[in-house]
Amino acid sequence: MNTLFTGRTLIELDETTSTNTHATQLIKHGKTPEGTVVWAHFQTLGRGQYGNTWEAKRGKNLTFSLVIHPIFLSTEKQFYLSKITSLAVLAMLTEYLPASQYDIQIKWPNDILVNKHKIAGILIENILRGSFVQSSVIGIGLNVNQQSFKETKKAATSLSILLKKEFDLKTVLELFCKHFEALYLNLKQNKFEWLNKLYLNNLFRFNEFANYKAGGNIFNAKLSAVEESGLLVLTTEQHEQLKFNFKEVEFI
Ligand code: BTN
Repeated sequence: MNTLFTGRTLIELDETTSTNTHATQLIKHGKTPEGTVVWAHFQTLGRGQYGNTWEAKRGKNLTFSLVIHPIFLSTEKQFYLSKITSLAVLAMLTEYLPASQYDIQIKWPNDILVNKHKIAGILIENILRGSFVQSSVIGIGLNVNQQSFKETKKAATSLSILLKKEFDLKTVLELFCKHFEALYLNLKQNKFEWLNKLYLNNLFRFNEFANYKAGGNIFNAKLSAVEESGLLVLTTEQHEQLKFNFKEVEFI
C-alpha cells in the first residue's frame, strides 16, 4: 500500500454480514488504527443508504469500509467526510476512465455516476463524541467486475462493463486509498473552500434546472447549493429556496 496510513491495516475477509457492521464492532473493541480497511469478498447483509440493501456478486466488486478517527472535525462539518470520500472515488475512477469519453459525477449526497449510471455507493456511519467526530466508518461499494445487474438496478454500471476487461480488486482498492488519504490530509488542514469547489464542480445537475419529487409533488428547480450541513438547496423558477435533507427529495 503506497500510503502513510490508509489501508495499511487491511482486514481481508472471505465473507461477512456487512463490512460497516464488522468495522463498527472492531472500533468498539479498540482495534482500529487510523486508516484500517475491512474488505470482504462477499456481504450477506450489505447495507445501502436509507435502509436499502446493497447487493454485489461474490468476489466481483469491491465492498469495503475504511475507519478513520477525525476527532479534529466538528459535528457540523461531518458532511465533509462525504465530500472527500466521493471525491476520492471520482479521482480514482478518473485514472481508468478517460475524461473525453466518460462523465464522472457525484450525485448528491454521495452516489458516483459514470455517464449517468451508478457505479458506486457510499454509506458513512459516524460515532460522535461531544461536538466532534470520534470515529467514522466509511463504507464503499464499487462495481468493478460485475457484468450484469438486476432488472431493478438497470441504471447501474461497472468498470468492467465500461472498459470491457477485468480488474484486480486490490489494485483498485489501493488507488482509492491513495486518493482518499490526500483528500483527508487536505481536510485536516481546513481546506474547506477548496473541497467545496471541487465537490460542486463535479456535482450532477449543479446549477441546472431539473425535476424533483418531494412530499408527493413533482417540481422543476435548479440545484443551487449544498449547505455545509449537507442540505440540498433547490431554487424554483419563482426564486423560492427549498432545502432538503437526505431521504426528503428524489431526483427524477
Ligand atoms: C448506497 O448507495 O445505498 C450505499 C451503498 C454502500 C455499500 C457499501 S458496501 C461496503 C459497506 N458495507 C455495507 O454494508 N455497505 C457499504
